[in-house]
Amino acid sequence: MTLAKAKPSQSSSISQKEVVPQKQKIIAFVSQKGGVGKTTSAVHAREWFAQYGTVGFVDADAQRSSSRWLTTLDPSLPVEITNDPTTLLKNLPQLKQKYDFVIVDAPGSLEEVSRAILSRCDLVAIPSQPAHLDLDSNLKTIEMVEIAQDIRGGMPKAVLFLNRAEGGTVLLREAKQTMDSGLTNLNIYRLQSIIHKRQCITDAPGQQTTIFQMASEIESRRKRKGGKRRSLSPEEIAKQEYHELFTEIVEILNA
Ligand SMILES: Nc1ncnc2c1ncn2[C@@H]1O[C@H](COP(=O)(O)OP(=O)(O)OP(=O)(O)O)[C@@H](O)[C@H]1O
Ligand SMILES: [Mg+2]
Repeated sequence: MTLAKAKPSQSSSISQKEVVPQKQKIIAFVSQKGGVGKTTSAVHAREWFAQYGTVGFVDADAQRSSSRWLTTLDPSLPVEITNDPTTLLKNLPQLKQKYDFVIVDAPGSLEEVSRAILSRCDLVAIPSQPAHLDLDSNLKTIEMVEIAQDIRGGMPKAVLFLNRAEGGTVLLREAKQTMDSGLTNLNIYRLQSIIHKRQCITDAPGQQTTIFQMASEIESRRKRKGGKRRSLSPEEIAKQEYHELFTEIVEILNA
């Protein structure tokens, strides 16, 4: 299963620039907070990065939600399942040699597992929901990232992004401000890209698909019918948001 390279979209106001990622990188989705979107983001990242090379995937969560989801997409996808910190410390550098990119889905708890991942990854992405409580609950994750950066001379690169945001709300504006002030003086960037809350994203694993595949099907159906391009579907907008998010991550990864 490969994802077609993102093409510029005529009817979209969101830019579709392309930045090619440097290879041999481990990108981990980590948060001590449960249910913020680590698995959802990691599964979409796997598919997006597959445009540019081979991708290994590590499901470090005992719930195995990402590996189960990936198996429904394609049982032949390379997925390693382990939530043992020592195994992660040993295997992640080997996987980095083997694949162009390695995506890691961290568990919602189990500090030792997250610490092991932070000891080995090149970039950590922290999904966060735009509620004060969620931003506060990032503090533990941020502290772990800071310790790892201290030990590893600034690595891993770290980004925080808003997921399940509801557009235009006061909460969202406040969340951005709270985040920015909370991250001042830290080596963690808040990404401009935001993934909004959409039913199609919630539905994707149950329907054994992804936003990229849903959007492609809509695009090809439209082409087959020869219909004029009307406004974008929620799936196409979500696809663009993921494209923007991963492009921004790559810009930081490449820098
Ligand atoms: N942008 C979004 N819009 C709508 N639903 C979303 C979005 N992101 C995630 N979800 C849904 O929120 C729930 C939690 O997401 P997910 O499983 O990715 O979080 P997680 O951080 O991996 O959780 P855990 O800590 O339990 O592993 C899932 O039902 C998922 O489908
Ligand atoms: Mg998860």
